[in-house]
Amino acid sequence: MNLETRCPILQFAALGDERGQLVVIEGGRNIPFDIKRVFYIYGSDSTVVRGNHANRNSEFVLINVAGESKVRITDGNEEMAVNLNQPMIGVYIPKMIWKDMYDFSSDSVLLVLTNTHYDEKEYIRDFDQYLTEVHAKE
Ligand code: TYD
Repeated sequence: MNLETRCPILQFAALGDERGQLVVIEGGRNIPFDIKRVFYIYGSDSTVVRGNHANRNSEFVLINVAGESKVRITDGNEEMAVNLNQPMIGVYIPKMIWKDMYDFSSDSVLLVLTNTHYDEKEYIRDFDQYLTEVHAKE
């Protein structure tokens, strides 16, 4: 399966009226997993690159609920970049995808949803190790 199909852009409904907008996230409904952990990244800027890892077990959805950033993802074969620049746009990142987040606006709040509790052991932080594990599965 190609990378764009594996990592779909999720377009959430903005339930807007004259009072403002509201976006609803429901595990197993408009997010393709049960949500076990939520974290958010802020205070980064355009000089910072975060991520630089893949996860053996965790799936993610990334949403810039304020400001904007970009995420570059690869499966070891293809690469693509996603602009996270609207609060109703997300990207789904399955396990064993290498990711870098960068180009944070100073007001960026990047919300991350995942299906696991934190476990440093499931992180792959070395790109060559990642390629070895990915290609071993092929
Ligand atoms: P890190 O993985 O470097 O963040 P990023 O993916 O944005 O590059 O995590 C930064 C620190 O926070 C690191 O010491 C691990 C810790 N951390 C947790 O304790 N729990 C978590 O759920 C996450 C995502 C990170």
